[in-house]
Amino acid sequence: MATNLTAGSLAAPLEGGGIDPTGDRLRVSRVGAVRADAPTFADDVRRGLTASPKVLYPKYFYDELGSRLFEAITALPEYYPTKAEAEILRSYAGEIVSALGGPVWLLELGSGDGQKTRLLIEALLARQGTLEYVPVDISESAVEVSSRALLFSYPTLRITGYIGEYHRALRAIRQERVLPGRTLALFLGSTLGNLGPEERIVLLRDVRGLLDPGEGFLLGVDLKKSEDVLIPAYDDPLGVTAAFNLNLLGRINRELGGEFDLGAFRHRALYNREEGRVEMHLVSRRAQTVAIRDLGIEVPFAEGESIHTENSYKFDLPQITALAAGTGFEVRRTWTDSGGRFASNLLVAV
Ligand code: AVJ
Repeated sequence: MATNLTAGSLAAPLEGGGIDPTGDRLRVSRVGAVRADAPTFADDVRRGLTASPKVLYPKYFYDELGSRLFEAITALPEYYPTKAEAEILRSYAGEIVSALGGPVWLLELGSGDGQKTRLLIEALLARQGTLEYVPVDISESAVEVSSRALLFSYPTLRITGYIGEYHRALRAIRQERVLPGRTLALFLGSTLGNLGPEERIVLLRDVRGLLDPGEGFLLGVDLKKSEDVLIPAYDDPLGVTAAFNLNLLGRINRELGGEFDLGAFRHRALYNREEGRVEMHLVSRRAQTVAIRDLGIEVPFAEGESIHTENSYKFDLPQITALAAGTGFEVRRTWTDSGGRFASNLLVAV
């Protein structure tokens, strides 16, 4: 169930009156709920804030402001994952795209600002001349802005974007598209780290369901390392990550009539060694009750009570090998950055 957005919004006349050279190479669809009763932001906020302990899902970070704050995080000196993965792609994009044989089309889950993907797109264009790129992201602004920029850079690129959640987009892609050639799917940035052990398996099986044997899935994962490196990456001295986390409460205020005082909560990042994950929380600075008007609820907080907003799992290579083996893939090759912080794994469907 996908509603076509484009031509109107995306092929609008350029400022200055020129003709937009990208419009006919771009199609963007929003993938709707598969089930009419699929939970909305309002449902998840109501459930999460009336649960004990309180929880909100990280997919809701990425409204327009949140997407921009995440881009700012990727520019922070302390946030090493983006830099480490970009180093890998700068060094090995040619090897990565040659490992599969081609020509291929590119599917990307969680495409975001598309900066790292450029390195792979350029390597593929150098090999095959043209490329079909299919980005999927929960953030409409991310898909629109990055697609437009990519099409301006690469005149032989075509883009079919999907805005929405991964499993819905994968279903739409399976149902609607004739897939041009072999698939190379991408899941970069250690976005996998947001998923718990069972959800991870579901996602990999979902992707596997779209692929034929021999087709590829490039999976970028952040590796386990010292807390001295991990904690500053998720609790930076400029406070950008704190703002990214607190924006979730701002979004509840904007979209659901929430009355959160953002100054009455503080950002907290910790490493949960047992679970192998960085956790982010929003901690109430004092006892308080917060109304959320559109939900008709009042949420009580004790002093020091937290809302758990994100898990960011860290991996080792045996875990990736096991995950691949359990979901119909094998790991063909793994590339790491010079600091050994991040791993790009080329999984191949068996
Ligand atoms: C986009 C999920 C990979 O977990 O490192 C960055 C999100 N959260 N800083 C991550 C995030 C706090 C990021 N991922």
